[in-house]
Amino acid sequence: MSSITTRHFLQSAGILLAGLVLAACGKQEPPAPAAGASAPAAAAPAAKVYLVGTDAAYAPFESQNEKGEIVGFDIEVVQAVAKKAGIEVKFVNTPWEGIFNTLAQGDRDLLVSSITITAERKQTMDFSTPYFDAEQLIAVKSDSKIAKFADLKKLKVGVQNGTTGDEVVAKLQGKDSANIKRFESTPLALKELEAGGVDAVVADNGVVVHYVANNTGSKFKTISDSSFAAEQYGLAVKKGNTELLAKLDKGLADIKADGTYEKIYTKYFGAPPVASAAKPAAAASK
Ligand code: ARG
Repeated sequence: MSSITTRHFLQSAGILLAGLVLAACGKQEPPAPAAGASAPAAAAPAAKVYLVGTDAAYAPFESQNEKGEIVGFDIEVVQAVAKKAGIEVKFVNTPWEGIFNTLAQGDRDLLVSSITITAERKQTMDFSTPYFDAEQLIAVKSDSKIAKFADLKKLKVGVQNGTTGDEVVAKLQGKDSANIKRFESTPLALKELEAGGVDAVVADNGVVVHYVANNTGSKFKTISDSSFAAEQYGLAVKKGNTELLAKLDKGLADIKADGTYEKIYTKYFGAPPVASAAKPAAAASK
């Protein structure tokens, strides 16, 4: 493009822009565009991109690959749900500590982070129908004498701060027990177990099993305990965001019904799910 044509183009664009501004002045203020999104064009407003908060240090559910991309079971579930719901999503690595506040503050539209649905959390946020069954699992060194959860009563136990693992150990030892070592992430707690700083780690079974399988050098074994309650993961939205919640629930029901969920589950866990959260809402809500 020659400079004359360029200038001509810029001038025309300027006139066009002035016209748009004048037109806009006569009407109501257009809504402010979402952060990162460009101003909506007159004809087709840019689709909303839903920001999904996830603590991506939780393989195989959410982690970062070598390229820094956020990947995992939870991620693929939400991608599939979004596709069914016809919404656009963007995953944002968000530390577990404070992750729930990002919803309340409107910095994230939804969270997927292997979040256990609990009565307490339900008071401050809303959850989708469950999408995954889980329970706590104990990790200890292979040569440990620890045989059951009650054995941890007076021992040093590593947990991820503010998780359901933290809650169960707090119940056993008292929440102010100096023997509860709270870490920012579950892998950090497991590293401390390897270093000998704690006697055991209590965390979600899927993450512990994955870690033990992928860090055979750590020489860990796992111990399950019948005292651990059944847990279910849900997608979280800001309290009262019924519009988004309905989209997510519909998307979840669709991917459970058409086999997409089972495909993702099998990819990550080697076999199709047997548990209730994999079933469409009617069964899961019983
Ligand atoms: N399921 C547990 C909870 O909800 C732990 C979840 C931790 N998730 C994570 N991505 N760090 O408390």
